[in-house]
Amino acid sequence: MPIRILDNHLIDQIAAGEVIERPASIVKELVENSLDAGAQSIEVDIEAGGVRLTRVRDDGTGIPENELALALSRHATSKISSADDLAAITTLGFRGEALPSIASVSRFEIVSRHVDAERGASVCVDAGAVGAAMPAAHPPGTTIEVRDLFYNLPARRKFLRTEVTEQGHIVRLVERLALSRSDVAFRLRSGSRTLLDAPALKSRDGSANATADRLARIVGREFVQHALEVDHSAGPVRISGWIGAPSASRATSDLQFWFVNGRAVRDRLLLSAVRLGYRDVMYSGRQPSYVLYLDIDPGLVDVNAHPQKLEVRFRDSRQIHDFVFRAIERRLADTRPAAGALPPAWTGMGPHATPLSMPLNLRVAEAAAPHGVWAMSEALNADAAENTDSLPATAHSLSHSMPGGAPLGEAIAQIHGIYILAQNESGLVLVDMHAAHERVLYEKMKAQQGAAATQLLLAPITVSLKVDEIDALMAQRGQWTAAGFDLERFAPETLVVRAVPALLPREDIPALVRDVVAGVCEDGASHHLDGATDRLLGTIACRSAIHAHRRLTLAEMNALLRQMEQTPRADQCNHGRPTWTQVTLAELDRMFLRGR
Ligand SMILES: Nc1ncnc2c1ncn2[C@@H]1O[C@H](COP(=O)(O)OP(=O)(O)OP(=O)(O)O)[C@@H](O)[C@H]1O
Ligand SMILES: [Mg+2]
Repeated sequence: MPIRILDNHLIDQIAAGEVIERPASIVKELVENSLDAGAQSIEVDIEAGGVRLTRVRDDGTGIPENELALALSRHATSKISSADDLAAITTLGFRGEALPSIASVSRFEIVSRHVDAERGASVCVDAGAVGAAMPAAHPPGTTIEVRDLFYNLPARRKFLRTEVTEQGHIVRLVERLALSRSDVAFRLRSGSRTLLDAPALKSRDGSANATADRLARIVGREFVQHALEVDHSAGPVRISGWIGAPSASRATSDLQFWFVNGRAVRDRLLLSAVRLGYRDVMYSGRQPSYVLYLDIDPGLVDVNAHPQKLEVRFRDSRQIHDFVFRAIERRLADTRPAAGALPPAWTGMGPHATPLSMPLNLRVAEAAAPHGVWAMSEALNADAAENTDSLPATAHSLSHSMPGGAPLGEAIAQIHGIYILAQNESGLVLVDMHAAHERVLYEKMKAQQGAAATQLLLAPITVSLKVDEIDALMAQRGQWTAAGFDLERFAPETLVVRAVPALLPREDIPALVRDVVAGVCEDGASHHLDGATDRLLGTIACRSAIHAHRRLTLAEMNALLRQMEQTPRADQCNHGRPTWTQVTLAELDRMFLRGR
């Protein structure tokens, strides 16, 4: 075949292949145009998963009649005109490709009335042929109707999934768009069924209740109840939004939303920065939930970096990564128990905070069972002066002199060797002692920043491991040393341990060392450095923390409570489970039907 220039219609169809993958892509392009046109209210109607019909109606500025046909030409846009504009894009669209692409693969009609015009006009496109503009009745704004997607490209049509699947894509997309702009009203309908109705808030900051309500409609009450608000600025960057408490982690990443200057993105740099921010409080394999907005000087970010504009390029990516990571880490670190504060599971963002939940009821009932009472008196009679290495009993007298004054209150008993029962001003406090102690140890080790106290072993311990395991350990020797270990390879398959962190309890050190080594090897040694160090510390903390059924004295229990109050992130253990919970007096009263 000789070389030839393709005809325009074919060029449009090829371009459409990149932008228009499925009906949801059409909704995305049309709604983005509406947002760029300053719409306050956007209605999306679909039929048959958007394949038979996708209609988007807005109340934006509209298009003047004499520009209507132009809007349907390739490379025609009102949003940029020079390379300078391209370097600092403030609109969602800028390529002038969406409308001609959509029109080339569907039966297309646009009706629009510019705000300054007295009447509207419409243009139809059929098989790439743009018709003449006709007068049409329309309020200021624009309606675009796209019918029979891919009717002229049977090969593409075959790739479409079932109506339900395509509709699901559209719902998730409109949800994302609605999250991007809470000041705009969104409504999505399929036939006569409303799939999403998100009224506008006055500003993104709106009133707390209205914001929580709108957010809950889109991402669910569950998320909203466990969300921590984030708002942090530095120079030209601001991060705001909500992050889910670690204890509300999920198995999937479906509730992770990032918006850069109002544009929904799935950017690797941002995703990894958040993951890093959560690393201390999240079980591996679990996923945090969040809705986060990054607002940045548009000159510092390139949005023309991905065919579907899903990724962005920051001029200083390292700095953005650190900014995000630190903001998240700091917000999560704020979750230590504070006076008058309820643990994360109990704080709601709006009027929907959970009342006392069932499982807790049961746990309290269990505590009152005969065995629990026995454990209680045991602990009460235990010698309060008795001390152990890992739990210095410092603040005991302090809490005695002001019962309930400290946020976590005063310990009363130990239940089933697992939970500490304490009383504070608001009522009853329950602490998972292993989880809490593990957290305290971990944070303590991290704070020592590579200068951990060590204890020399009288007799060095040898540990047998596989060659590659020792290879991996030796490659990370610096971190082991920083954590307080002195390790040496004695033979290809033998490791000698001469010193261990002073924090490790004295008993059965060989077993502990083997545990820690095995635990870290299991995770694989291929992770990046920070992660490896933290996992090492996490494993040490877990193996050295007090274990279930170890009987604690009241002094030890109080010491643990005081340490928790001073420890960052003490609300969750290293695996993201809560370490304590509160049952208020009001809730106790309700349980016993007092005051009714
Ligand atoms: N709903 C709308 N309201 C007002 N003007 C619109 C609307 N939709 C499209 N336009 C006008 O039509 C032009 C072309 O739209 P199109 O989506 O093809 O390109 P774009 O938005 O400029 O860039 P991109 O291809 O990146 O989306 C826009 O620049 C805008 O001026
Ligand atoms: Mg556009």
